[in-house]
Amino acid sequence: MTTSSNPPNSAAPDQTSGMWGGRFSEATDAFVAEFTASVQFDQRFYKQDIAGSIAHATMLAKVGVLTEAERDDIIEGLSTIRAEIEAGNFEWRIDLEDVHMNIESCLTQRIGITGKKLHTGRSRNDQVATDIRLYLRDEIDDILGLLERLQKGLLGLAAKNVNTIMPGFTHLQTAQPVTFGHHLLAWFEMLVRDTERLQDCRKRVNRMPLGSAALAGTTYPIDRAYTAELLGFEAVSENSLDAVSDRDFAIEFNAAAALIMMHLSRMSEELILWTSAQFKFVNIPDRFCTGSSIMPQKKNPDVPELIRGKSGRVFGDLISLLTLMKGQPLAYNKDNQEDKEPLFDAIDTVRGSLMAFADMIPALVPNIEIMREAALRGFSTATDLADYLVKKGVAFRDAHEIVGKAVALGVAEEKDLSELTLEQLQQFSDLITADVFDKALTLEASVNARDHIGGTSPKQVEAAITRAHTRLEQLYA
Ligand code: ARG
Repeated sequence: MTTSSNPPNSAAPDQTSGMWGGRFSEATDAFVAEFTASVQFDQRFYKQDIAGSIAHATMLAKVGVLTEAERDDIIEGLSTIRAEIEAGNFEWRIDLEDVHMNIESCLTQRIGITGKKLHTGRSRNDQVATDIRLYLRDEIDDILGLLERLQKGLLGLAAKNVNTIMPGFTHLQTAQPVTFGHHLLAWFEMLVRDTERLQDCRKRVNRMPLGSAALAGTTYPIDRAYTAELLGFEAVSENSLDAVSDRDFAIEFNAAAALIMMHLSRMSEELILWTSAQFKFVNIPDRFCTGSSIMPQKKNPDVPELIRGKSGRVFGDLISLLTLMKGQPLAYNKDNQEDKEPLFDAIDTVRGSLMAFADMIPALVPNIEIMREAALRGFSTATDLADYLVKKGVAFRDAHEIVGKAVALGVAEEKDLSELTLEQLQQFSDLITADVFDKALTLEASVNARDHIGGTSPKQVEAAITRAHTRLEQLYA
């Protein structure tokens, strides 16, 4: 970041209060200039700012406020500036406060007095609100692309693990056997809702404030619908005061981002557990892990741990934005300049986290035998034995009692229910016959029996994956 070193130019402001020098009798204090500036972070949406200005100038020419020659000069000047920024040759000046004034000032230096006409019928208030919406719209589209890639990765891994059996947990205690594919589809569902939320949020992001000017609208015969069409907005904002002031669309995005991070933190937590020496359910390839500088045996699941941690900062960004907006009187207040850093942080964090997950998921290697053995411990088929007795006429509460006693024997003998002999089982109920092993006690019998939409049976998981592919196509159509 540099302060002013541009050559003086009659067409351009070269001192701190240049843009509003008319009303001021002294230059802005250097510290205040730096303190109030946003160019350090809002230069990030230079592309959207330039696109907005080009559309605005095009509209002004259409309605006769600018001549076609003026419009063309402005467009050419802005295009050159964009190329310079992209080549890293643009000098951002902190004394010019923000991205808007940096670009406008440079334009005037380049093309002379016509550059000063660009801001006709516009204010930085509607300009910045437009820029953030354009920027966020682009970022949402990128994030949706990453979500789609991650979802496809989950479906691919699930398809390979339709028959892989693992313990399902409640209270992190073994509950009932589930298929690994089913577990992965649970993650998939979370992400489907995240996608829907983002897509819904995008509709409200994609409305154009431009034309609201400072707060009340403008006296020029503007054609807002035309500008909106040029910029790909779905609609124009209905009220100028609201359009320049509210940042609810950014808060809404951040809330959706917070939910994505919450979901990723849950997946991360499971991966961290599963890769531990105590579980050993899954291997994460070395490229997603790091070692320890002191303990030679360590392979740490850094990526999921970091993402679990990063969820906290996105929740913090959400609270920052809510607090920023709370209690603000209409219309624009400088407070709103503080919307950018939390929003950018949420965008960057959710993007990076999704990228890491999208790369990591297809690379996971389940330890199928270890998962299966774990499912055999913890009496995961006890409910199946109770259901077996219910089907033979026993009331569920009584069946529960009978199975409880059988489990107690298993605990004493250190055996799973399926490892007890038929005679041992029959001492609890003479309704238990030799078919109990195939019908209730094996892991396969247990998962196969949950054979309805939303259930864990391999057949249902297979069908769910097929439906999921169709749903993805519709979701991202
Ligand atoms: N840099 C400002 C922001 O980020 C642009 C709008 C400034 N408007 C104003 N009236 N000071 O919000």
